Amino acid sequence: MAVTEAERRAMTHALALAARGPRGPNPQVGAVILSAAGEVIAEGWHRGAGTPHAEVDALSKLPPDAARGATAVVTLEPCNHTGRTGPCALALIDAGVSRVVYALDDPGAVSGGGAERLRTAGVEVESGEQADAATALITDWLTAQRLGRPHVTVKWAQSLDGRAAAADGTSQWITGPEARGDVHRRRAVADAIVVGTGTVLADDPALTARDGDALFEHQPVPVVIGSRETPADAALRRHPHEPLFFDTRDLTAVLADLHARGIQTVFVEGGPTLASAFIAAGLADRVLAYLAPVLLGGDRLALTDIGVASIVEARRLTIDEWVPLGADLLAIAHSARTEEGEL
Ligand SMILES: NC(=O)c1ccc[n+]([C@@H]2O[C@H](COP(=O)([O-])OP(=O)(O)OC[C@H]3O[C@@H](n4cnc5c(N)ncnc54)[C@H](OP(=O)(O)O)[C@@H]3O)[C@@H](O)[C@H]2O)c1
Repeated sequence: MAVTEAERRAMTHALALAARGPRGPNPQVGAVILSAAGEVIAEGWHRGAGTPHAEVDALSKLPPDAARGATAVVTLEPCNHTGRTGPCALALIDAGVSRVVYALDDPGAVSGGGAERLRTAGVEVESGEQADAATALITDWLTAQRLGRPHVTVKWAQSLDGRAAAADGTSQWITGPEARGDVHRRRAVADAIVVGTGTVLADDPALTARDGDALFEHQPVPVVIGSRETPADAALRRHPHEPLFFDTRDLTAVLADLHARGIQTVFVEGGPTLASAFIAAGLADRVLAYLAPVLLGGDRLALTDIGVASIVEARRLTIDEWVPLGADLLAIAHSARTEEGEL
């Protein structure tokens, strides 16, 4: 049976409910239960890891047997595995739901398969309703699932001759106010902002996302990688989030730790040593290079060794966008070898 008008409206509402949940290791999901007559009888959403899934949250608001013959409208395919909570597909079957309409297939190898389980139990299942909106809502979670780690953007600002700092190490500010404003807006949509100890010691950055003097509502978690000590009075220690320190050079391990904390997008803001290490390790999904019409000369290059010994090994990029920002120019690029993914 095609999706009804009432189910369509319920999905729009379920998407709004899903957005109330937190970003984190689990996806944001919403659910609405409709009576056989198409009226909303319950709603729910997922409030984060360890709490009931959206379908179970909605069902819990109904007396026993009230969902018999009902339709469940859910933004993600009901899961099929037992984690900290039981399989949602089974909860829906046990509640006597006769029809399920969902937006997106669950990409998880373990959690997926809920639709098949429902069909096997005789429940009617429709998928794909408002899939684009559902994808947009959890796109970062879906990407992190596919990569098995957070999505990584490596950003740097450089002079026209490819330098990231002057001879004495000063680099604030190579670019103009428009470019810096653009960086802050991008920080404000990232889950974490990552620097090496070299940048902390040279620049004492605050690592906040600022709109002029004010802080944006969302702040990325500040992350420092390297073994040198961050001074007790460092500006980043006054960040609204507790900074994370990793005394290691193992970037894969750092990303795994961040992923486990529910961090889905990472903004690497250098300096050159750390940026180069991410690119050399194949862990940079996207590059943002801000080019300023200024010459610095000297040997403080924007990137150092990225493992390219000969021109045939050059990391060729595809430009997604050239963005003029005042007198500066931003290049947004990804690897020419992959649609998306490592450089
Ligand atoms: N233009 C820009 O966009 C920009 C941005 C940021 C900084 N800067 C400039 O860059 C300069 C600092 O450069 P930098 O290269 O020293 O800074 P950095 O890349 O932030 O820090 C380098 C340090 O990161 C640590 N590290 C962590 N993982 C690593 C890995 N896998 N491989 C190697 N090192 C790793 C090491 O610290 P330990 O030795 O402590 O283990 C290393 O010494 C300053 O002059 C600053 O102003 C420019």
